[in-house]
Amino acid sequence: MDVEDVQGDLSSVLLTREQIQAKLAELARRIEADYAGERVLLVGVLKGAVMVMADLIRELRLVDVEMDWMAVSSYGAGTQSSGVVRILKDLDTDLSGRHVLIVEDIIDSGLTLSWLLGNLGSRGAASVKVCALLRKPDAAKVHVAVTYLGFDIPNEFVVGYGLDFAERYRNLTSIGVLAPHVYA
Ligand code: IMP
Ligand code: MG
Repeated sequence: MDVEDVQGDLSSVLLTREQIQAKLAELARRIEADYAGERVLLVGVLKGAVMVMADLIRELRLVDVEMDWMAVSSYGAGTQSSGVVRILKDLDTDLSGRHVLIVEDIIDSGLTLSWLLGNLGSRGAASVKVCALLRKPDAAKVHVAVTYLGFDIPNEFVVGYGLDFAERYRNLTSIGVLAPHVYA
């Protein structure tokens, strides 16, 4: 669905479908160059990263690319990070010797990602890097190295393109700031 379909629920549109696609193409060119000749495993974090993964992996001109998924929870149904990370679904893939690229939708407090980096890093991977579409300012407090970053965004709650509020708005094609009256 498009912005017209959720009129009133967004206070502004942050990124259009076109801006997102152009950025993912840019990141894909860098990833192709960095992983040329390597076998790479993209690890998506459910459910938010579904759209980023789907578009990024199709944009990649690499033959030796695999996909796996993890589900972790750090948020309830609200808009504040709990800081507690739990594995809801683990990987199917053995990471020994693998080049792993974590694909994330957004880094807010950075707690989820720093925990994931530690967890995946302890499984014998040859390398673990991060690709994230969005990053909020608070992420600077926890030092997580993001090799491939789409956009730095303001500290506001955003929805769309996989990002939800109480499981809604994931199917919005663009990314927008959720109007406060929706969660107040
Ligand atoms: P962190 O651990 O605080 O970095 O939170 C990361 C996770 O929180 C993301 O993968 C999202 O699922 C969720 N999250 C953080 N900020 C937002 C937002 O603005 N909109 C929707 N989900 C968010
Ligand atoms: Mg997420």
